[in-house]
Amino acid sequence: DSLHHAKQVPGRGFPPGGDASYRNADWTVPQRFDAYSDVEHQTWTTLYERQADLLPGRACDEFLRGLDALDLHGAGIPDFERLNARLAALTGWRVAAVPGLVPDEVFFEHLANRRFPASTFIRGADQLDYLQEPDVFHDVFGHVPLLADPVFADYLQAYGKGGLRAARMRRLHNLARLYWYTVEFGLVQTPSGLRVYGAGILSSKAETIYAIESPAPHRIGFELERVMRTPYRIDDLQQVYFVISSLRSLLESTLNTDFLPLYERLAGLSDIEIQAIEPGDALFGPRCAD
Ligand code: PHE
Ligand code: FE
Repeated sequence: DSLHHAKQVPGRGFPPGGDASYRNADWTVPQRFDAYSDVEHQTWTTLYERQADLLPGRACDEFLRGLDALDLHGAGIPDFERLNARLAALTGWRVAAVPGLVPDEVFFEHLANRRFPASTFIRGADQLDYLQEPDVFHDVFGHVPLLADPVFADYLQAYGKGGLRAARMRRLHNLARLYWYTVEFGLVQTPSGLRVYGAGILSSKAETIYAIESPAPHRIGFELERVMRTPYRIDDLQQVYFVISSLRSLLESTLNTDFLPLYERLAGLSDIEIQAIEPGDALFGPRCAD
């Protein structure tokens, strides 16, 4: 089955959604936790239970530990205030309610200040697998558990700062691919096998299975320039994933690299087709059925 799931990802523009009159200058809004209906809470619980079954052996340990530490379990849509008390105590991150997609620079400014912009609405009970815009399940269930991990917490903040810099240099299209292939669709090779850390995968039932088990997509060792040369598609399961060796190695390879020379080099290099294998690509297989 195909999955249509747009994400907040820098560089793709944004539809001018929502009623602008009630938002703050930084685009934040109140969550209005008390306004959720029972049906909406039940949708979260249904989605949570589908994913909970799939995560052991597929999600990375840091994600599973974050779910526990933040108590992000099946009891309905989380109250951001309670969630933030736990999250801020662990890594200093907070979830900030926004009306949907926000402009790139607003998005980066939040990340650079350890605020994760999250939608408050939840998909309809008849649309469990179809999303036009990220909802609270994708944003909070998918993204927030890893923000309880100190290394990933530093990575996403550094990404936000790098985004502000790339926006000034008009290089967002390169940096957006890094977000896509790590924060949204990243895989990590661990001693117990391939695991998912990307939120776009972890909030989708179909993609959680496909990313680990399907022989269809390519799984290529993460290499910064390679990733930034690879376009992505937002309207279907991915045809390629990039595999890091640990969250720490991801942080180190990005934090310690000045992207400016990289951006300059990229200007002279062509894109790599999504389904292409290049000389030098390290290939990973799917999990073997045993
Ligand atoms: N080091 C990058 C730069 O020079 C910033 C960055 C850090 C980007 C971490 C992504 C992740 O712009
Ligand atoms: Fe996302």
